[in-house]
Amino acid sequence: MLKFAKKLEGFEESTIREMTRKAIVNQAINLSQGMPDFEPPQELIEGIIEAIEKKEHQYSITYGNYNLREKISEKLRGYNGIEVDPEDEITVCCGASEGISSSILSILNPADEVIIFEPWYENYTPITHIAEGVPKYVQLKQEDFSIDEEKLKEEITKKTKAIIVNSPHNPSGKVFSSKEMKLIADICIDNDIIAITDEIYEYIIYDGEKHISLGSIPGMEERTITISGFSKTFSITGWRIGYVAAEKKLMKGIRKVHDYLTVCAPSILQEAAIKAFDLKDDYFSQLVKRYQKNRDYLSKSLNELGFKTIIPKGAYYMFSDISNFKTRDTDFADFLVKNKGVAVVPGSSFYHTENDENIVCNYVRFSFSQKIETLEEAIFRLKERLL
Ligand SMILES: Cc1ncc(COP(=O)(O)O)c(C=O)c1O
Repeated sequence: MLKFAKKLEGFEESTIREMTRKAIVNQAINLSQGMPDFEPPQELIEGIIEAIEKKEHQYSITYGNYNLREKISEKLRGYNGIEVDPEDEITVCCGASEGISSSILSILNPADEVIIFEPWYENYTPITHIAEGVPKYVQLKQEDFSIDEEKLKEEITKKTKAIIVNSPHNPSGKVFSSKEMKLIADICIDNDIIAITDEIYEYIIYDGEKHISLGSIPGMEERTITISGFSKTFSITGWRIGYVAAEKKLMKGIRKVHDYLTVCAPSILQEAAIKAFDLKDDYFSQLVKRYQKNRDYLSKSLNELGFKTIIPKGAYYMFSDISNFKTRDTDFADFLVKNKGVAVVPGSSFYHTENDENIVCNYVRFSFSQKIETLEEAIFRLKERLL
């Protein structure tokens, strides 16, 4: 009889992606998975056509198209304050997701511990299990999702190998402050820990908040794996273009895993992604303006319906308290997708199961990465049918 590897027992398939499948089956508006329903910038579409004309149909070099890596290194210097050599300190991956997987797989030995802030983006735990590591959860403070210094320090042991830092944060929308980043940096340096940063929402940031890259903090250059990508900033989640930047020695291991996992990211799309660097500052400010408008509309509308929303400072999700509806998050999400035609993600998929039920089961996550008209239709459906 077929028996799967034991390490698969620690996790299930992604609930976020499952909700998208349920949205399709139920013809629901999909506010579960974070993907836009509008077109990416025209420059990128033209980039694909040009890449086809250039006949970029074969494997790229495993580490990624060199011109793209060069552009990424300039962006890392200018936007993130991180200095890396495109030759051997940047690797283009199949999305930030693969970057995270390759990074975790390259540094963990069995029983090594990984600090994961809770709630967390779904991918971190399964990959830690696949690498036979042990996730150590540090719950963010309930009131504002800030880091509880004591809780964090309590979880640091001799076995702590890595800490995953996602800012802007999915699902809460929290943007980690410079004080919090400094705290993490000090802990990493004092305890010889590697930081893996997930900065996929680095440009989607509101209310004058500033994005801080952990890898730019002095002393962190040698021990930070910086991960980002093109999915969210350029509304091309299906292209699967992301990247990892790290100091040469760390990168050597990451490249070994990346090479055998995927060989390379899609060549045509790597070539086309270079066009993203032609976009002017105005593109980024318009993107933020669009999402900020969505955020404000969704928050006001959901609160009127009885949800208690947490206003995100970054990313494009609204983690919303559903305690007024007196139902579990999973039942509520199921009810919404089947009966109301709106798909959301139950909050418990961002927590580990042994946690306090009151916290875990009282949230659902709405994405507002869609057109405002899509959000209006979702609110119409909830209004007409929910109350
Ligand atoms: C925090 C976070 N990291 C990574 C990803 C995936 O990024 P990519 O499409 O580049 O794999 C997502 C997607 O929702 C995310 O929310």
